[in-house]
Amino acid sequence: MAKVVSFIIQKGGCGKTTTTANTAGYLAMHGFQVLAVDMDPQGNLTQHMGYDTESLDHSILDLFEGQYGFDEVILQRNETLHLLPNNLKTASAEFSLQKNSLNPDFLLRDVLAPVMNRYDYVLLDCPPAIGLFSINALAASTEFVLVVSPEFFPMKAIKPLYETFRMVKSKLNHSLQFNGIIMTMCDFRTRHSQEVRSILKKNFPHKLYNAYIRMNVSLKEASSYGQTIFEYNPHSFGAFDYQNFAEEFIRDHHKNICKKQYYQQKFETLSPGEQNQIIMFAEQSLSAFVKNGIDNADDDSSVLHEALVVERNKVLEKLFPYRMNNLVEDQS
Ligand SMILES: Nc1ncnc2c1ncn2[C@@H]1O[C@H](COP(=O)(O)OP(=O)(O)OP(=O)(O)O)[C@@H](O)[C@H]1O
Ligand SMILES: [Mg+2]
Repeated sequence: MAKVVSFIIQKGGCGKTTTTANTAGYLAMHGFQVLAVDMDPQGNLTQHMGYDTESLDHSILDLFEGQYGFDEVILQRNETLHLLPNNLKTASAEFSLQKNSLNPDFLLRDVLAPVMNRYDYVLLDCPPAIGLFSINALAASTEFVLVVSPEFFPMKAIKPLYETFRMVKSKLNHSLQFNGIIMTMCDFRTRHSQEVRSILKKNFPHKLYNAYIRMNVSLKEASSYGQTIFEYNPHSFGAFDYQNFAEEFIRDHHKNICKKQYYQQKFETLSPGEQNQIIMFAEQSLSAFVKNGIDNADDDSSVLHEALVVERNKVLEKLFPYRMNNLVEDQS
């Protein structure tokens, strides 16, 4: 199953699109199967990937409206990097999508559900405002990364987003996780960049990525040439910084997989009675919305099942603390 990650912040021009494009480019270059999704009707990710937004045959809107299938809309940039493109037409359709769809918050989740096994990573470039498309992104994500640039006071943009996250997690997507914060456009010669980094470190000590992205003109140039930084200038600071970020991003993923396998193994060592008890505890922690979905489970219940596994693993963590059993691995 793909890891679905929203790159998001409730503020324009922080580097969300640049981060999505270059992280997708790096992962695809290293053999991961990657789907980049342009959730912003400005279409900046579509342009960054080298496509003209005005001459698209199809866009993600066709999928949301159910007019075309995934394979008709997808753009295969190369074998490992695919794109769901977007353009301004989607912005004008926002109101009617909201009004006429059966499940307006799950448009993207429903589009992705049948192709989740095709990809290792699905990376979502979110618009700067919290509206239908950002909510759709969070509702379809396994996790999200905050993209913060130092030119404003970050907590101002993070606080309202955090409230949105809590709402989405409790009402729409119980398994949504806060992956971390990547700082972009840093210039540590300025006091302001340093101050912002220390504010983030203080408020989110375990969430701030060690990697950070410096100001680098090659990143801007790469986007205007429709290339990733690794294609445009692999020797630039921009390429170096995004490589660092992507490597840290993958490492966390690997650790999560190990953790999940660990809990699964522990679960399987328990007797059927003990297993049932743990599942009962886990079910009690699920929101009414998710519970209802599990009771009426159909073929498309993978997201709901995942929510239950997350809660089950929280119970198992109390019985078999991961850190105590994996000290060697955690220190490595
Ligand atoms: N590290 C960087 N150094 C220099 N320029 C950058 C850097 N990161 C992004 N840029 C440039 O800054 C501008 C804004 O970046 P980007 O489009 O990635 O932000 P965004 O958060 O997606 O914006 P929006 O909210 O409008 O979608 C772009 O022109 C981009 O090329
Ligand atoms: Mg953008």
